[in-house]
Amino acid sequence: MKEIFERRSIRKYKKDTVSEETIEKIIRAGMAAPSAGNEQPWHFIVIKDKNIINEIPKFHAYSRMLHEVNCAIVVCGDLFLQKYEGFWVQDCSAATQNMLLMAQALGLGSVWLGVYPREERVEALKSLLGLPDNVIPLSILPIGYPAEEKMPSDRFDAFRIHREKW
Ligand SMILES: Cc1cc2nc3c(=O)[nH]c(=O)nc-3n(C[C@H](O)[C@H](O)[C@H](O)COP(=O)(O)O)c2cc1C
Repeated sequence: MKEIFERRSIRKYKKDTVSEETIEKIIRAGMAAPSAGNEQPWHFIVIKDKNIINEIPKFHAYSRMLHEVNCAIVVCGDLFLQKYEGFWVQDCSAATQNMLLMAQALGLGSVWLGVYPREERVEALKSLLGLPDNVIPLSILPIGYPAEEKMPSDRFDAFRIHREKW
């Protein structure tokens, strides 16, 4: 509960490197997500090569903070692993959120960088990472130690709650 309410998007990072053990913990949290019929249609691409990471902001205008990190994880959905067509998006979104929460719990910062359904971002990332046709990138998570502090944001809005009918 603490991580849910304290998580914020971090867009400034320290130079410190994140350990392999930490990266695995984050991915383990992603793989713990619920999925339609337990189909688990995800793949995770861990990128540590700065030359590759730095290519992403060239085609994704809102990902400039990637220049500051030494690691990024791309969450992808594999259409061949789906049991229920179309649900890979929700499955991989649940995985992405779990990863953001684990990063928060480990004292790291991250931010959900949206890829799918922006066609041009999907295509550029597929070509950069050599993804097969059946694998679609949904999100990119920069992973690093936060160099900014953000206050929790309470967004509770009673007007968005409807009871019985609209
Ligand atoms: C589907 C999705 C796509 C997003 N894409 C981007 C993005 O491309 N770049 C970015 O800086 N933030 C992106 N965000 C982060 C949102 O801007 C952020 O979650 C929102 O402003 C709320 O702020 P908070 O995360 O600090 O609570 C995205 C979030 C989601 C859920």
